[in-house]
Amino acid sequence: MRCLEAAAKFIRSEAALDRAEVLAKCRAMGLTCDHDAPAEVCVLGATGTIGRAVFTELCRRGIRAVTLTRQADKSLEALGTVIVSPLSSAEDLAAVLRQHRFAAVISCLASRTGTPDDAWAVDYRLNSNALAAAKAAGVGHFVLLSALCVQKPRLAFQQAKLAFETELAASGLRYSIVRPTAFFKSLSGQIDRVRAGRPFLIFGNGNLTACKPISDGDLAAYIADCLTCEDRWNRILPIGGPGDALTPRQQGEALFSLLGMAPRFRSVPLQLLDVIAAMLRLAARVVPALAVKAELARIGRYYASESMLVLDPATGQYDADATPSTGSETLIDHYQAVIEGRVTVDRGDHAVF
Ligand SMILES: NC(=O)c1ccc[n+]([C@@H]2O[C@H](COP(=O)([O-])OP(=O)(O)OC[C@H]3O[C@@H](n4cnc5c(N)ncnc54)[C@H](OP(=O)(O)O)[C@@H]3O)[C@@H](O)[C@H]2O)c1
Repeated sequence: MRCLEAAAKFIRSEAALDRAEVLAKCRAMGLTCDHDAPAEVCVLGATGTIGRAVFTELCRRGIRAVTLTRQADKSLEALGTVIVSPLSSAEDLAAVLRQHRFAAVISCLASRTGTPDDAWAVDYRLNSNALAAAKAAGVGHFVLLSALCVQKPRLAFQQAKLAFETELAASGLRYSIVRPTAFFKSLSGQIDRVRAGRPFLIFGNGNLTACKPISDGDLAAYIADCLTCEDRWNRILPIGGPGDALTPRQQGEALFSLLGMAPRFRSVPLQLLDVIAAMLRLAARVVPALAVKAELARIGRYYASESMLVLDPATGQYDADATPSTGSETLIDHYQAVIEGRVTVDRGDHAVF
């Protein structure tokens, strides 16, 4: 086995190990990695959902993880080094990168709102600053958390992400661009309403879209493996979680089944979203503040009708079989854990997804 996915699951179940212990355990399990794990890695966006999972994963593998955050964060400080810095300052970022000998930068930065200005400021500009600083500091590898939806870039935040992907791929630096499907947090928004006896909301018949949901931990392990697995270098890497693709109707059916309730769905016509988005767009001409809401409506409309699966450019169709899988945690296990109170969901600002 070339990568450390199986080992990562095992390692995540262990207390923090140093790097030598991790490698020894991997070898004892018959796993080989292409390259030794780097000693020190910089994670940007470590206060976010996936950035935090990546930071944790690196620390568990015995890699020294360093992050720059806008605010102090005690749970990250307990694991690695946290430097509080206004990331908007390219000079500060470059100075920090120069002071360390990072083998890699992993960027999990993302606009928290998805609105056009913020997306270009964060998904494009902050990443672009980080890339320039990484190059100047002699960092060898830049790993980017992107999104599978940039395959069909209709929204401002997708165009901003794609612009940075293009810049990174042309930079001459070793890169890994990870494009995941849907996160568990984005598919957990209806658990409370279903528990409260309300119907599960679907668009159309609930089978218009599908995705292969991926857990934070499985995605973090996949991203960490990009550092050592040569077959993930200088590539764009679409990635989903384990098992078959799930439609929203199937997600709802699974949720009702776990709760021991008869399935009850309420269908929202896509046309209603079109009308709302069009009205907000018109209203934004008069009240510019509504432009943000208009963009959020467009984002909602996009995800109501586009699958988070690999798009076949020849047919223009989404292809579940062509969407690679990783990890072992399923959305259904996650629903069960939420229902039993073993995990809580922080849906964050991307709840519209
Ligand atoms: N949700 C999904 O289902 C899904 C699926 C596929 C791909 N994705 C992609 O995955 C990526 C990461 O998602 P996530 O949920 O982990 O993100 P998140 O929880 O929203 O975290 C965003 C991170 O970026 C930082 N950030 C945002 N604006 C900043 C600014 N102006 N200056 C400095 N730092 C800033 C945040 O720092 P603060 O804590 O200081 O705000 C935080 O660390 C996104 O690109 C998203 O498109 C999402």
